[in-house]
Amino acid sequence: HSTVNDPKNIRVKLVLLGDSGVGKSCIVLRFVRGQFDPTSKVTVGASFLSQTIALQDSTTVKFEIWDTAGQERYAALAPLYYRGAAVAVVVYDITSPDSFLKAQYWVKVLSDIVMALVGNKADLHENRRVSAEEAAEYAEKNGMFFIETSAKTADNINQLFEVVTNRTT
Ligand code: GTP
Ligand code: MG
Repeated sequence: HSTVNDPKNIRVKLVLLGDSGVGKSCIVLRFVRGQFDPTSKVTVGASFLSQTIALQDSTTVKFEIWDTAGQERYAALAPLYYRGAAVAVVVYDITSPDSFLKAQYWVKVLSDIVMALVGNKADLHENRRVSAEEAAEYAEKNGMFFIETSAKTADNINQLFEVVTNRTT
């Protein structure tokens, strides 16, 4: 029994954007290393990580991930990382309406790139200040996929990257 199909190897350049402190670096750390760092340091400039996942049909997807710095002083660097990206993941914190506004700013800037909208820190539901309904409606209007995640509990982190894969391959 043999197959004539060679395994496909797909590369996806992905960039994470969003306000400082929303948990971009923690999402990446959870996805790449399966860890959570409660004392995560602010990102300076940007950091690069990659992670390869295998799909059921022996396709592999290599994510090349640019984790950008959300602090305002690094705003001018962002285009270096989102230009040429296949996917932009725009992250906000469900406990921070300001971070949701910042996410909407990124959605406008990135309008040409396939995007996912991510409401992170879903474990902090007692302090929720951005409703899932409002965010889902906004995402739908802008043709984006929407998901709430928790880098802390790992909730929906793998699902986020799976959906991104389905949308780009
Ligand atoms: P910049 O690098 O400055 O842009 O910030 P960032 O978006 O990379 O934030 P980072 O991942 O460093 O996380 C900021 C803080 O939020 C840290 O104290 C994290 O431990 C915390 N954090 C991140 N994700 C979660 C989460 O899902 N739940 C909770 N409760 N805390 C989180
Ligand atoms: Mg960071």
